[in-house]
Amino acid sequence: MEIKEIKIEDLQPERFIKQQVKEVFSVVGDGLAVNALSGGVDSSAVTIIGHKALGKRLKTYFIENGLMRQGEAERVCLLFKELGVLVEIIDAKKEFFAALKGLSDPEEKREAITQTFYKNVFGRLVRESGAKYLLQGTNYTDVEETVAGVKRQHNILEQLGIDTQAEFGYKVIEPIIQLRKSGVRSLAKALGLPEELYNRPPFPGPALAARVIGEVTPQRIATVRAATKIVEEQLCNSGAFQYLAILHQDRVTGVRKGKRDFGLQIEIRCWESKDALVGTPTRLPYELLEKLAERITQDVPGVVSVTYNITKKPPSTIEAV
Ligand code: XMP
Repeated sequence: MEIKEIKIEDLQPERFIKQQVKEVFSVVGDGLAVNALSGGVDSSAVTIIGHKALGKRLKTYFIENGLMRQGEAERVCLLFKELGVLVEIIDAKKEFFAALKGLSDPEEKREAITQTFYKNVFGRLVRESGAKYLLQGTNYTDVEETVAGVKRQHNILEQLGIDTQAEFGYKVIEPIIQLRKSGVRSLAKALGLPEELYNRPPFPGPALAARVIGEVTPQRIATVRAATKIVEEQLCNSGAFQYLAILHQDRVTGVRKGKRDFGLQIEIRCWESKDALVGTPTRLPYELLEKLAERITQDVPGVVSVTYNITKKPPSTIEAV
C-alpha cells in the first residue's frame, strides 16, 4: 500500500486543510466536480474541503438509495444548508433495489451497490453536469481492509485496479485517504462542522444493506430501519464507538397472543473500538438490553427474537455484511 498514513498525533488539522484545499483546487483547475454527501463524518469533511476549494464549481448530492436511516436525507440537507452548502437529493431508490434483487451473497451485494452508485448514478450525474471529478471520503482504514481482503469497502476503486476514468468517465479525488476515523473527526471539528456530525458514530457506505443478512428488499430494509431507530435512541448516550441492528435471514418460532408466530430475528451489536480495526462488545447493563428487546419486539412488525452479539472483532466484523 503506497498511501502514507498520517497518525492522529502527527495531524495538524489547520495545515492539512490548507494543503488539501490547495490540492483539490489545483487538480480540478477551472473545471467542475461532484460529490456525494451521506451525512457521515468522512463525506461531510470532504464536502467542506471541496467547497472551500471550489465553491459553486462543486455540486454536492445526497443519493437517496432507499437504504438510509429514517429522515436522513432531510436532516443532512438542512444541516448543510445552515452551513451554506446546497445539497441536491437524487432519488435512486428504484435503481438500487433493482440491482440488489435476488442477491444474498455479501460481496455480491456490495458489488451491486458499488456499480449502481459509481456507474449508473454518478456516471449519469457527471455526464449531465459536465464534471470530470468525483470527490470522496475514502479513509485509510477503508483502503487497508479492502487490500487485506477483509471486506470490500464500497468506496475503494483504484486499489482494486479499477480505472475510474475508463470505467465510469471521471477521476476520483480522495482528500482524507491518509487519515483514520479519529483524524477525520479532528479535521471535521477544525472545519467548523457541528459536534453532532464530527462525533457521529460510523455508518457504512452500503448503509442498512450492510445490516440485512440475505436479500435486501424495501420491506426488509424497513424492518432494519425501524430497529435501528430504536437502537440509536437507546444507545446514543452509551459512549460506545458504534451500535447497530441487524436483520437475520432465518426465522424462529415465537408466540404472540397465545398463537405460534414464525417471526424475524434482530441482532444488536454495540462496540468499543478506536478505529474499527478491532473491537470489543460493550458490557451494556442488562436492564438496557431488556428494554431494547421489549421495544423492538413491540414496535417492529414481525420481530419475535432479539439477541446481543458478544463476539469480539476479530473474528466478528463490526457490520454483518
Ligand atoms: P467492518 O464491518 O468491516 O467495519 O468491521 C469496519 C468499519 O467500517 C464501516 N464500514 C464501512 N464504511 N464503506 C464505509 O465507508 C463500507 O463499505 C463499509 N463497510 C463497513 C463499519 O461501519 C465500521 O465502522
